[in-house]
This record gives sequence, structure tokens and C-alpha cells, in this order.
Amino acid sequence: MAKIIAGFGTSHTPAIGAALDLGKKAEPYWAPIFNGYAPAQKWMEEVKPDVVIMVYNDHVNAFDFKIIPTFAIGCADEFTIADEGWGARPVPVVKGYPEFAAHLVQSLVLDEFDITIVNDMQVDHGLTVPMSLAFGAPSAWPVKVIPLAVNVIQYPAPTGNRCYNLGKAIKAAVESWDEDLKVVIFGTGGMSHQIQGPRAGLVNKEFDTAFLDNLSKDPEALVKIQPLTYLRDAGNEAIELVMWLIMRGALGEQVDEAYRFYHVPASSTAVGHIILETREFHESRKARAAA
Ligand code: DHB
Ligand code: FE
Repeated sequence: MAKIIAGFGTSHTPAIGAALDLGKKAEPYWAPIFNGYAPAQKWMEEVKPDVVIMVYNDHVNAFDFKIIPTFAIGCADEFTIADEGWGARPVPVVKGYPEFAAHLVQSLVLDEFDITIVNDMQVDHGLTVPMSLAFGAPSAWPVKVIPLAVNVIQYPAPTGNRCYNLGKAIKAAVESWDEDLKVVIFGTGGMSHQIQGPRAGLVNKEFDTAFLDNLSKDPEALVKIQPLTYLRDAGNEAIELVMWLIMRGALGEQVDEAYRFYHVPASSTAVGHIILETREFHESRKARAAA
């Protein structure tokens, strides 16, 4: 059967993609960030997942203000790269997995999560920047990707609790797919940041550190954070962090933190990253390493 083996939480700051695409990786401002993701890329190379479920948000590129689905799953064969105003990023087209995506939609809808089916869409920095941070700059992405777009652009955004429960339902949906697949689920966006208004540039390191700690120590505490609390304490765009709770909900009760990185700033964002392994996957990796 298919299994979710780990979660990959990461910011998706568009300027990181631009820095990479413009060859600025080694510049003093950017080098610490890219160095911080080097161990994550090594982890990915070792683990070699078959499929990524990419929980991210569209930033008015695939969906304009005419239609704003709360939860939408990309069921297409492939997803082209959106032009966000300065040309499409020069990264490979994103290959989907329509059959598996359709199964996830079926399982989730029967589980009473009303998912929007998307058969044609472009993907923006919310998806492509995490791909670059996880997999570097290959000529083709080494995994199939199922995009799960969450509305955090126009209030009301879903609550952390709803997201966490959706994650649990995704775990069950994946495990009812009869094909041996290693799945890694991403939660993207965050961490604390505000990109507009008088509080632009707001960063709350304490909030972010507690959030990273509690992903393994006390996820129930994170689930209780209300949308307005994200806004007040960690900036308007910190609401993106609810997507990390979909990732966390999909990993089961016990997780082991395999890697963490935190850096301020990239553009106006506190960049945060975490790899959480399911207890089962963590134990199997330890046993293999010891053998
Ligand atoms: C920034 C961060 C984001 O998550 C985003 O979607 C757009 C901009 C920023 O920090 O500049
Ligand atoms: Fe964003």
C-alpha cells in the first residue's frame, strides 16, 4: 500500500526562487539560506520518495478572485509554471498523478471533506519554491506531485483544526491506495511574516520556535491557534502556517524531527524548515543504518 513516510515543512518565499534562478545562490545574503537547505536535499536524495503531496497556497495565479476554493486538488497529468508578472520560473513542468489524485479526492469527499477537483491549473511560487529547496535544480523533477491548494489569501481561511483533521483524512486516503509508494507530504508557507501595511516586515521568532517545537511535542496546542491569532501575533501572512497542520495531521500520532532550519530574513519572511519522519519510518531508517 502507499504510505506517508515524512512531512516537509518549509517557507515558500518567492524571492528565494528568484535568487536561485538569477544565480545569486552564493551571495552573502542568500548563502546561509541555501546552505540551510543542503541537508534537506541530501535527505531527499537518500529517501527518494515516489510522490509528493504538496500542500500550498496559490497567490491569485491559478485562481483569481472569481472562484476561491478552500481546498482544491490538482488531478491533471501535468502543471505548467505560472507567470507571476516577471516571467515563468525556469523550472521543469510539474508532473502529476491523475489516478492517485482522483483516489484521494474520492476518499476525502466520502470522508466528508468537500474538495474542489482541478483538472487544469498552473502552479506558482507556493509550489515551485519548495520544490527547488527540496530537490535543487534538476532537468526534470524526480517525483510525481499532487498539488493541494488551500485558500489563505481571502478570509475566511480554514482553521488549524480543520486542516489538522484534513491531514488525518489524507493519511487514511493514502493508505487505502493499493500500490507501494513512498509519499512525502509538504506543508508550505509561513513562517511569521507580513508583506503589507504598517506592520510589513513583522517577524516573531518566539512564535515560530514554539510552532516548530510543538509540531512534534504538542500538535494539539498548535491546532487551537485561531486564524486571528496568527494574524495578530505573527503577521497577516502567517496564516499560511495552517497548511503545515495538514502536513502534521497526515503523519500520525508520533513523529521524530529529522532536521530543522530557521533564518531571518529572506525578503520580509522568517524562513523556517522542518523534516518530520513518522515513528515507523524513523525506526526503519535507524535499523537500516545500524545493520
Ligand atoms: C513573501 C512571502 C510569501 O509567502 C509570499 O507568498 C509572498 C511574499 C515575502 O516574504 O516577500
Ligand atoms: Fe505565500
